[in-house]
Amino acid sequence: MDKAPQRQIKGTRLKRRSESLSAIALTLTLFIASPVSGQAILEGERFHPAVATQGMVSTSHTLATDVALQVLKEGGNAIDAAVTAGFALAVTQPRSGNIGGGGFMLIAKGDHSAPEAIDFREKAPAAANETMFQDDNGDVVQNRSRFTHLAAGVPGTVAGLAMALERHGTLSLKQALAPAIKLARDGFTVPQRFTDGLEQARPRLERWPATRSTFYKRDGSAYQPGETFRQPKLANTLQRIAEKGVDGFYQGKTADLIVKEMERHGGLITKADLSAYEPVVRSPVHGTYRGYDIYSMSPPSSGGTHIVQILNILEGFPIRESGHNTADTIHWMAEAMKLAYADRSQYLGDTDYVEVPLAGLTSKSYAETLRKDISSEQARPASDIGPGQPAAYESPETTHFSVVDKWGNAVSNTYTINFSYGSGITVEGAGFLLNNEMDDFSAKPGVPNAYGLIGGEANKVEPGKRMLSSMSPTIMKKQGKNFLVTGSPGGSRIITTTLQVILNVIDHDMNIQTAVSAPRVHHQWLPDELRIEQGISGDTIRLLEDRGHTVVTNSAMGAIQSIMVGEDGTLYGGADPRRSTSSAKGY
Ligand code: DON
Repeated sequence: MDKAPQRQIKGTRLKRRSESLSAIALTLTLFIASPVSGQAILEGERFHPAVATQGMVSTSHTLATDVALQVLKEGGNAIDAAVTAGFALAVTQPRSGNIGGGGFMLIAKGDHSAPEAIDFREKAPAAANETMFQDDNGDVVQNRSRFTHLAAGVPGTVAGLAMALERHGTLSLKQALAPAIKLARDGFTVPQRFTDGLEQARPRLERWPATRSTFYKRDGSAYQPGETFRQPKLANTLQRIAEKGVDGFYQGKTADLIVKEMERHGGLITKADLSAYEPVVRSPVHGTYRGYDIYSMSPPSSGGTHIVQILNILEGFPIRESGHNTADTIHWMAEAMKLAYADRSQYLGDTDYVEVPLAGLTSKSYAETLRKDISSEQARPASDIGPGQPAAYESPETTHFSVVDKWGNAVSNTYTINFSYGSGITVEGAGFLLNNEMDDFSAKPGVPNAYGLIGGEANKVEPGKRMLSSMSPTIMKKQGKNFLVTGSPGGSRIITTTLQVILNVIDHDMNIQTAVSAPRVHHQWLPDELRIEQGISGDTIRLLEDRGHTVVTNSAMGAIQSIMVGEDGTLYGGADPRRSTSSAKGY
């Protein structure tokens, strides 16, 4: 902890406390040969990461982890394994794994070249416009951007994964698709979570005949745990991509099926939209935190920008000395989070369409100004002009996976169809679900999306534009070497989930599995409430309430699949127990 930032902290009570905590911390470090951020795996710890030396994969589904690990074992690199996992998840985890959605992949090569981001976010169709989700009175018609054919953006996943492979992989698209095609055609054994998801989303999904016949049995019941689930139509769609490359999705039969689906139900995606879709190579947002370099997703995601902004603010507080999930630490995090989400609502959007003041938002001096106004004693109320609660819907889901190979290459990928099962609409004859990502635009400036996030003019719907995201695939480096590969689903909570895993590793010296498993908190400015997971003590909650926070207990937030690289190159995998199918494995 450097001294200068401590001067920023207001309040003598707090200063005294942090000074004595610093003294204790210093004394302790003299006696304990401090492991570098949780790298030593002690028997006494409650959570243990997967440990390996050659390669590590962490995904939200065991079968995706297994096929990606096999690629690494056969000599493929992290990019090959990540793309293979991406296609496998589209089969084994249809609620978020996808070919009908989009996402972001961060790649940091072991040769220390500059990390690169592949943006395969969905785009608004050419016929989209800024009032398409409003009625004649200008009021937002909420379900239109969520559960109709208008909800779907032009999918980017197939083009994005293919681009990653072409730029950095060694496998052909056909090879990377082979395990997914096999899983779709031969089927796989259904886990409990698969059945539960389809039961929960049933009212929304069975409205659509193609969804009903794809995901439920003939008698309408869901596949039960232990039964085999096959997807022959999806297998054929994947096969067309294997044979014809991206044209097997964006042209020809699959494109025809998508466009027919749109025409039957008033959707906007045309053949021209599909054939014009291009992923974009972008520079990730870069920041530093206590000597580590952070690379995370740039616009059209807000993730990297605000992770860096919040870390910059927190760098001036004695987080390590205060301790993990103490009232002080949670209070500082919440105050910093609010400031970032307020900025997000105003400034963030697709940089191909709007100017985003990125340099300012991520600068240390801006963070210093913001930090000066944070009181350590009192929560600042969010503006009372604002929306109510986020809309209620079945558990949302996106999915993240991280891969590191024996050459030190790292891939961090988050992709999604937005809600669990996206729009709920399956392309008839093609066997895959369409995203409902158009809801991530602001349907009207100031009106919140499904996650309660407010967007402004910068994120209004425009033809061909990418909707603002929170997805935050992140890679941290230490002295130029890949150190932490992480990222999460969770809608608006993606940013704060990723942030806390970084803090847990850097400030709280947790091993990666402990860092991933630890209870999390979240504040997004509006609604003005501090959401916490189970596991924050009652007296901590009372201390936070005394400072003016409205504390609300939330169900599990995020599902962060992470890998940490030890100084000697040992790989540590942390899979998030919040998803029962999560799996980190190495060799
Ligand atoms: O791009 C975004 O920020 C959202 N569409 C992500 C949705 C999500 O994470 C749902 N999951 N848990």
